[in-house]
Amino acid sequence: MDNQSALWWKNGVIYQIYPRSFQDSNGDGIGDLQGVINRMDYLAKTLGVDAIWLSPFYPSPQADFGYDVSNYCDVDPVFGDLATFDKLLREAHERGIKVIIDIVPNHTSNQHPWFIESRSNRDNPKRDWYVWRDAKVDGTPPNNWLAVFGGSSWEWDEKTGQYYLHSFLKEQPDLNWRNPDVQKAMFDVYRFWLDRGVDGFRIDVAHYIMKDPELKDNPVNRDPSKGELKPTGEYGKMLHLYDKGHPDVHGIYRELRRILNSYQPPRYSVGEIHILDWKEWATYYGQNDDELHMPFNFSLLVTPWKALALRKTVEAVESVTPPWGWPNYVLGNHDEPRLASRLGLQKARQAAMLLLTLRGTPTLYNGDEFGQMNVTIPLEEQKDPWGKRVPGTGRDQNRTPNQWTPGTNAGFTAEGAIPWLPLADNYQMVNMQTELDDPASFLNLYRKLLAFRRQSNALRVGRYEAIDPVPEACFAYLRQAGNETIIIAFNMSDITMRLDLRRFGNIEIIISTELNRNGTIDAARIDLSPWEGLVMRII
Ligand code: NOJ
Repeated sequence: MDNQSALWWKNGVIYQIYPRSFQDSNGDGIGDLQGVINRMDYLAKTLGVDAIWLSPFYPSPQADFGYDVSNYCDVDPVFGDLATFDKLLREAHERGIKVIIDIVPNHTSNQHPWFIESRSNRDNPKRDWYVWRDAKVDGTPPNNWLAVFGGSSWEWDEKTGQYYLHSFLKEQPDLNWRNPDVQKAMFDVYRFWLDRGVDGFRIDVAHYIMKDPELKDNPVNRDPSKGELKPTGEYGKMLHLYDKGHPDVHGIYRELRRILNSYQPPRYSVGEIHILDWKEWATYYGQNDDELHMPFNFSLLVTPWKALALRKTVEAVESVTPPWGWPNYVLGNHDEPRLASRLGLQKARQAAMLLLTLRGTPTLYNGDEFGQMNVTIPLEEQKDPWGKRVPGTGRDQNRTPNQWTPGTNAGFTAEGAIPWLPLADNYQMVNMQTELDDPASFLNLYRKLLAFRRQSNALRVGRYEAIDPVPEACFAYLRQAGNETIIIAFNMSDITMRLDLRRFGNIEIIISTELNRNGTIDAARIDLSPWEGLVMRII
């Protein structure tokens, strides 16, 4: 493997697949691994991404739709079997696509054999694989920790007379990563998939695995700048100092990195790490390129769509990324409202351009490339456990099936089948097939950006520099590698803005978010329409 392709995670674009909603191949209304295989040519050729990240497909009671794993080393029959997984890997690799799988190390399902043993009696050898504690003298939980999905994070176990810890649902008991046997068992899980040939891991709530060893109470949060990235419900009112992110977590990720590096070529890791404090967030890169390759950067999900705010976010990311580290950006995933609903269509087009032109690895969420919107689902029909427990947090809206065709069930599942979540009302217009024929479509904008990025060294690996001065409502930057310089400019306002970029010499437009504009332009008078974005090249 040459150096270039060994660094695919740096050069490439990652595409997240939520398997339940991507493509169903057997007419049960739920997407599956064979469905992913069936769409492999779309991923490789029509879209042109470099890697896919598969959300969990392991055996699971599906209390949290696969993030409650009952066997880490198999495939849930709903999604297929190990042979189908191996085929998926082969088909992806044949097309030059890397495969990243989701690993859920913080918690198992309460149906996992480890937990069933652990809760069977206090003397079971696996008792200490989970976090068990006595009640306080008045019978209440051992401390004041809250579960992300609502309520206390402690569940009473009648049979053995102790509480167990669960940072999410009570069906998702937290593993005790301070127990060396747990560490060994989980590192063996990583090895199981590495030996099968996966290229990397997306690590679910990576920082949660180490808690304060004394399980101290969390204080109330009085300073919003210090709290959660997205404070929700009672959970968002506490400062989560002790229930996650204990510094001992870094030793675990150093060990994981050693394991990843022991494979040829070395494999990759990206951690789901929602931390507001940039300096702390960046510690997950390690001290010397020895922990995660990347902590996911969710900042664009919470930054107002304004020129100055976006620039500040990008510069904050640039300033904390260590010299050996590589930035990354995310605009959507299975936990977040749809990009096109959050920002509206015009800004979502700018967002696509921003994501695919910043310095850093972009991760796309399936369906965002068609401009899929949130689908409103009445509460009584909602399936997401979080949405059912904490008003306003439901994620079904952004997990509805991928819209492939204007035909029955949008090509997601067979005619007559019932998709596990309803399809968007607008799928006959917003879908892959229809958009492929429309040069102005969302999909074709993504395709143009992806194709240009693929052949531009400046965009893939070049340096970033903000361009000044520009009108206040504009955000402009350059990306440069060798003798290639690309300029990206956005007008984030309702009126036309003029840029004078004549100091850069001659300029040609490559891609516009709005108009079919290309070719050379008078660099002294570059007019950007309201909410337009341009990719330009210095010639
Ligand atoms: C983060 C995942 O992205 C989310 O979908 C899941 O519910 C929680 N972790 C718990 O595993």
